[in-house]
Amino acid sequence: MKMAHPPIYFEKDLLNNEAFIKLLQKHVGRFALIADEKVASFYAKPLLTFMKKEAFECHLVTFQEGEKSKTRKTKEEIEDQLLAQKLGRDTLLIVMGGGVTTDMGGFVASTYLRGVPYILVPTSLLAMVDASIGGKTGVNVKQAKNVIGALYFPLAVFIDLSMLSTLPDAEILCGSAEILKAGLIRDKYLFEELEEKIGLWTDRNPDFLQRLISQSIKIKKKIIERDVKETGERRILNFGHTIAHAIEVLEGYTLSHGEAIAIGMVVEAFIAHKMQTVTASDFNAIYQLIGKMGFALKISEKVSTAAMKKTIMRDKKAEKGIPRFVILDGIGKVHRFKGSYCSTAKSDILDEALGWMVAEFQQ
Ligand SMILES: NC(=O)c1ccc[n+]([C@@H]2O[C@H](COP(=O)([O-])OP(=O)(O)OC[C@H]3O[C@@H](n4cnc5c(N)ncnc54)[C@H](O)[C@@H]3O)[C@@H](O)[C@H]2O)c1
Repeated sequence: MKMAHPPIYFEKDLLNNEAFIKLLQKHVGRFALIADEKVASFYAKPLLTFMKKEAFECHLVTFQEGEKSKTRKTKEEIEDQLLAQKLGRDTLLIVMGGGVTTDMGGFVASTYLRGVPYILVPTSLLAMVDASIGGKTGVNVKQAKNVIGALYFPLAVFIDLSMLSTLPDAEILCGSAEILKAGLIRDKYLFEELEEKIGLWTDRNPDFLQRLISQSIKIKKKIIERDVKETGERRILNFGHTIAHAIEVLEGYTLSHGEAIAIGMVVEAFIAHKMQTVTASDFNAIYQLIGKMGFALKISEKVSTAAMKKTIMRDKKAEKGIPRFVILDGIGKVHRFKGSYCSTAKSDILDEALGWMVAEFQQ
């Protein structure tokens, strides 16, 4: 299914963003600002002051930050706060924060009074380049991540790059894994630019960061517009994720998502190399760049070859328990297998890749 993605506005200052102000002015009704406590401590006050000045009625709803909060219980608490304010169907939700907030706030919007409109203001790098694009919303349950949710698009996404100034560096690194992924699956030039100007990246040069962010957003947006429901091409966004998800499960989610994706991309590039769709020199370039970007690339003894094999069988792309991978076709392209965007790997290749991963990355 094809559709146009809602607009993504990219400005340096949210409160001077004309499109943002126009959208608020057009809305007849009330507003609720949903944010975690940490993001609210930085950015709620200026927005609420602005709203008050413009005579917009806006209620702040907060929750404790972190992945642990991304639950049905927190969603219920947010809904209870909206209900307590007697906010009706004329409410526009302003969902501001990292991926936890954009996922959960979007899910609240999809079910509150059978669905109210919302806009996203992503504040973490991961939310800017990934979580706020594509309409996937949801919460985690104890069995698995993101399994209760809805595909529900915001009216628009407003990115204010200045908000990255308060984001801890570890979170910048986390989002950067998705930028690199965009280059690897779709844009050789992005990869090469990052490779050539790695110093600008490690210095967090704002202009360089802005260009990379904007380019990776364009890539993800285009892929989603062509395959909203992930029946085909959207699958390529899962590059690195089969391995990464299994590592996250085995490490009990103690490793950051970005670290897991970084290792996943190296190992899945290794698989592609063994399947002869990626040359040795391209594989080395990928591995080296991921190291230079600052990822620790370390796993614990919990991540054994046997445990990995068991866990990847449960991956959502697996067919009849056989894991499948997005396979690179050089740098900047994904290999297509008879029209499909992912493939199984022969068991000897998979064994070799997992054995290599354990030998290379286990502490
Ligand atoms: N819907 C999707 O397509 C999609 C895609 C990728 C990831 N996700 C989801 O995103 C979540 C991870 O996102 P995340 O890493 O942004 O997590 P997060 O929302 O927990 O944010 C990370 C931390 O950074 C803080 N933070 C955010 N913005 C800040 C800012 N500007 N200044 C200071 N602190 C700030 C948050 O309070 C939090 O402590 C996961 O739950 C994942 O499942 C969803």
